[in-house]
Amino acid sequence: MEVILTEEQIKNKVKEIAKKLKEEYKDKNPCVIGVLKGSFIFLADLIREMQIDCTLEFIRLASYGSKSVIEEEDVKIMWDLPIDIEGKDVILIEDIVDTGHTLKKLKEILLKRNPRSLKIVALLDKWERRKVNIEIDIIGFKVPDKFLVGYGLDYNEKFRYFKNVCGLTKEELERFGK
Ligand code: IMP
Ligand code: MG
Repeated sequence: MEVILTEEQIKNKVKEIAKKLKEEYKDKNPCVIGVLKGSFIFLADLIREMQIDCTLEFIRLASYGSKSVIEEEDVKIMWDLPIDIEGKDVILIEDIVDTGHTLKKLKEILLKRNPRSLKIVALLDKWERRKVNIEIDIIGFKVPDKFLVGYGLDYNEKFRYFKNVCGLTKEELERFGK
């Protein structure tokens, strides 16, 4: 496994993102929505750095196998939000953007519910693999086209607990793919 981002790099970036969000949202009581499961560690660190009042919600998309479903029309919600976001300032937190299908669909779904504003924050951007155009408001790191694990990201539910973000080799993808 190759370390792509160290714990320290991630910590610094989370602080930087939190500072921006804090300034913009400190008087807005935003609704922070994490896309399960991958974003939970990023989200936990981010709100502790932001230190502002916010409501916390989660949404979970249907996931098939080792990857969330990414085929165009196939992105489906498995657990929806338990609240109405109409009129709210929403901050959507995602771990990684790959083809972009997930966020594109999710953005469409959330915008139909008439939030007052919607900001999309993704820690990692595998920009070389993008298939659909999607505007992401805040991106932590541009990362190479490798399968990444750690800091919440998994491969077959493994390695979420790593403090660094690591890239798997082909051989590791095979070995841990079962
Ligand atoms: P997209 O719809 O292709 O942009 O895929 C986004 C989703 O796929 C993310 O929310 C992750 O759950 C998953 N994913 C994409 N790339 C990786 C990776 O390198 N490691 C772990 N999960 C990934
Ligand atoms: Mg995800």
